[in-house]
Amino acid sequence: MKLPQKVIQIGDLPPILEEGLVEHFTTHKFSNPQEASDFIDKHGSEIDALVARSVFGADAALMDRLPNIKIIGNFGVGYDQVDLRAAAERDIVVTNTPDVLTECVADLAFGLLISIARQIGTSDRFVRRKAWPGQPVYPLTSSVHKKKLGIVGLGRIGQAIAARGAGFGMEMRYHNRNPIPGLEQAYEASLPGLAEWADYLVVAVVGGSGTDKLINAEVLKALGPSGYLINIARGSVVDEPALVRALVNGQIAGAGLDVFVNEPQVPDELLDLDNVVLTPHMASGTHETRAAMGDLVLQNLLSFFKTGKALTLVGLA
Ligand code: 8YV
Repeated sequence: MKLPQKVIQIGDLPPILEEGLVEHFTTHKFSNPQEASDFIDKHGSEIDALVARSVFGADAALMDRLPNIKIIGNFGVGYDQVDLRAAAERDIVVTNTPDVLTECVADLAFGLLISIARQIGTSDRFVRRKAWPGQPVYPLTSSVHKKKLGIVGLGRIGQAIAARGAGFGMEMRYHNRNPIPGLEQAYEASLPGLAEWADYLVVAVVGGSGTDKLINAEVLKALGPSGYLINIARGSVVDEPALVRALVNGQIAGAGLDVFVNEPQVPDELLDLDNVVLTPHMASGTHETRAAMGDLVLQNLLSFFKTGKALTLVGLA
């Protein structure tokens, strides 16, 4: 049954969500914020809810142009692009999609880790250009099992990465703002200290101002020429120019990167390097997980408009 509310959708979303929005609400869909702009100028005040891909988010200016929205359904667990303070000031509820994507994101983190350590991408290219067997033979790679895994941010996704590390018999330590009681992994208060210890440093913290450029030149130097960086969090967490320099100059062994500062732009210098594996922000991008995320956004909206309570609320820290 259709509810009376009107929804603006910004960004393409899985069919379960797009169809659900059309079924339950009067929905106006746009592929990106630019495309939505004219409509918002004319009809912004008629809209009750905003549903957006996490990459588009919602800033205070957009909220002002949608002065009657009561809820923002963020398609993604990360809400660093949503201005939570501006939302709170306007009594706008913000929801995200936790839990349903945890395992897939951890899978891709581990996939990147194995891929860069064992050079799956580079050796695939070696085979494709018919360089095998050839001389020199393909160089040896770094092993994964029983190595040292440092996790930056041992939240839901970090813990799922740790579970995979345990399966590979890895020794693990983590860095958070504060230690988490009752975990078997050792806490490392110093991030450069963790990087120095680790063979593989996986970044799984939230994005936003609190973690901006957390992985800086000092951390990369500590990781050293035999250390690998894996980032499935946000591009903003890494000082990208410093990372590019470290990769070009061999200050670190390599990196597996799913996220970048100015997505979809990837620094040109990375494109020719064999010591990187690059993926297009797709850690949650499986049929199953994207459908589950889409369903959760829809259920949040339905629950909010039917009962006044959303399911997975995001609050100010
Ligand atoms: C994106 C993500 O949501 O959940 C997050 O925070 O970054 C991803 O799952 C996805 O790429 C859709 O924008």
